This record gives sequence, structure tokens and C-alpha cells, in this order.
Amino acid sequence: MAGIYIHIPYCRQACRYCDFHFVVSVWQKKELIPFLLRETEERKDYLEGEVIDTIYFGGGTPSVLEVKEIVSILNSIYRNYPVSQEVELSLEANPEDLKPEYLSDLRKAGVNRLSIGIQSFQDSDLELMHRIHNGEQATEAVKNAQLAGFDNISIDLIYGLPRQEKDFWQRNLDKALSLGIQHFSAYHLTYESGTVFDHWRKKGRIALIPEEDSLKQFKMLINTAKQQGFEHYEISNFALPGFRSKHNSSYWQQKKYLGIGPSAHSYNGVSRRWNFNNHKRYIDGMASAEDYFEIEILSLENIYNEHVMTSLRTSKGVSFLYLKTRFGNQGAEYFRTGIEKFVKSGHVSVDNDIYSLTEEGIFIADHIIEAVFR
Ligand SMILES: C[S@@+](CC[C@H](N)C(=O)[O-])C[C@H]1O[C@@H](n2cnc3c(N)ncnc32)[C@H](O)[C@@H]1O
Repeated sequence: MAGIYIHIPYCRQACRYCDFHFVVSVWQKKELIPFLLRETEERKDYLEGEVIDTIYFGGGTPSVLEVKEIVSILNSIYRNYPVSQEVELSLEANPEDLKPEYLSDLRKAGVNRLSIGIQSFQDSDLELMHRIHNGEQATEAVKNAQLAGFDNISIDLIYGLPRQEKDFWQRNLDKALSLGIQHFSAYHLTYESGTVFDHWRKKGRIALIPEEDSLKQFKMLINTAKQQGFEHYEISNFALPGFRSKHNSSYWQQKKYLGIGPSAHSYNGVSRRWNFNNHKRYIDGMASAEDYFEIEILSLENIYNEHVMTSLRTSKGVSFLYLKTRFGNQGAEYFRTGIEKFVKSGHVSVDNDIYSLTEEGIFIADHIIEAVFR
């Protein structure tokens, strides 16, 4: 089984925190679509005939596409790849796009999972982030989706934002979980270089929140999610039983996937390939039959690093026995030496041969992962 990711790099407006690949000239999508179709067709052998069980439209904001544009991409996928009858077909969407008619057409097109970019239900946060929607539209978008028959809905939220009232995060969580959603992703704000937020931070206009506040918000997140029956299955991801994102989980399990569109990554077990992170260079490269991507053949070290990073980030953890079989005694012992001090400090727990992060460990995950990298 394998997955297909399609990157739609358009947004109606630039969020002040975001450094993903996007452009705000939405009209340019008309120019891109023929190239997406062409890449889908030209790379049909990449996954060597494996059955596709997940398709994911990410962005940018895929809901800027008309449903007929989404259908044209899907038709090209169905023509060129064996797609499972039970495919998980996800689309990232923004609240302002989720009107009843659009939603009902998405359902007819086969989309069966929505990931809605809500970020916050509070108008002051949304204004600060430079989002188009307000809190009321966010709630309405979820309700509209449910009325249209979507029963697998995820939302994205951001915490650790500057200038918030004390209980804002608890209120956001309570609001989110009162809506009957099946999944949510919650990310701590990061100040990515080149973004407006980063610029404002350097000028002293906004500030990082104190670390103890970040930790408090993180604990609030995991406790509230647990109380409401959500499984914390990856650092930033929470799902009701049976509703984990199959597509994102396949990245964490090193399954093969094909990435279509500017900045999209692909992985076939041997190499990683990424298309240029610029839609014009992507289009020009394809149009002139020049390269529009880069490739890296993965060394055993790369594979080890990816394995320990993704496994530690998920509740599955790292199996010491698996490390021994896949990377030999030397690889496994390297891991054990690096992780030992975090076991002693209570940041990592060991159950049989499985090493996983404790709640305290999750909060310093990047630091722990760095210590076991080769
Ligand atoms: C590429 S964005 C999805 C875009 C979606 N169309 C939207 O506008 O919300 C993926 C998610 O990453 C998160 N994200 C992006 N930049 C972030 C940052 N600097 N800090 C924290 N979360 C971020 C947001 O929650 C966002 O929904």
C-alpha cells in the first residue's frame, strides 16, 4: 500500500507565521493544473504498481480549487494508479471556503476526510495571525461539513501564541472538542525565519511566551484530549479510536509515497525526491523538459535517522530489537548510548524493548532526537 500527496501552493492571504510554500495569486492555479496532471501521468511507475490507499491534497490551501479541478486531478490518479476501494481521500480546507454546496460536491467527488485550518476560534488571535475567517465562521465550517455528511473531520490549531488572554488555549480546546470532530492537530507556534512574526519578534513587537507557559499549555492539551477520549498518537496529533490519519501515519511508518506539485516530497524506500519549492521553477522546469526536482539516495545512516526520529515522535516508539535487525548491533548500541540519560531523567520510558517519550520527554522531543542521531 502507498500514498499520493498533491501540493496546491495557493492561499488567498499570507498568514504571518507560515513559511510553507505558497503564493497568494490564486488565479495562477489555472496555469499549474495541466502540469500536475502531467506529473501524475509521467510518474505512474514510481510506486511500482503498489495499491494506493491514501490520497492527500495539502497546501497552501487546496480548497481554493473548484471541485471540477479536484476531480480532474483525481481522474488522472484513477487512470494511472490502482486505487483501493477504501481509499482515505483527504483535503486541507479553510473555513471561508466551506459552503454547503462546495462541501456536498466534494463528497460527491469522493473526498471522505477534511482537515480544516482553523488555528483558533478567537477573533483577536485570528486577526493577529492574519487569517481571513473569524471564530464564528470556523464553527460554521465544521457544522456545514457535518451536515454535508463528513464523518471524519480534523482541525488544525496553534497554541503558544503571543498576547493571549490567560485561559484562551483551554477555551479553544473546549470549543474544538465540543464540535464532534474525530481528529485534531495542535502545533506550538514556531517563529520561522522570513515570516512577519519572526520580523516582529526581532523588532520587539511580539515576544516568545515564557517556557513554563508553553509547558502549561502543552499539558492542558494532552490532559483535555485524554479526558475527551482522544489518543495522542504523534507529538502534534490526536484522534478518536479508529480515526488516526492513515496518510500522515504512512510517513511515520516509512511507507512509500508519491508527491505531486511544487515542493512535494516523494519516497520509494531507496531515495527521497523533492520538487522545487517554487511554483514558477516547477512549471518552467517541466515545460522545458529540464529537471524540476532534486534526489537524494538514502544511506543506511539517513534511514536510521528517519526511523528513530519518526518512531520517537509517535506513540509506537522505537523497538530495540528492530534496530538490531535493521541496523546491526552497532546501530542499536549507538541508540542505547544516546538515549540512556533520558531514560534516567524520566524523559523516556522503556517497556520490554520499546523506547518511547514520556509526557515530559515529548516536550523536549527535538533535543532527545538530536542526541540519538548519527
Ligand atoms: C500549510 S499549513 C495548512 C494550511 C491551511 N490551508 C491553513 O491555511 O490553515 C499546515 C498547518 O501547519 C501549522 N503551521 C504552519 N506554520 C506554523 C508555525 N509557524 N507554527 C505553528 N504551526 C504552524 C498550521 O496549523 C497549519 O494549519
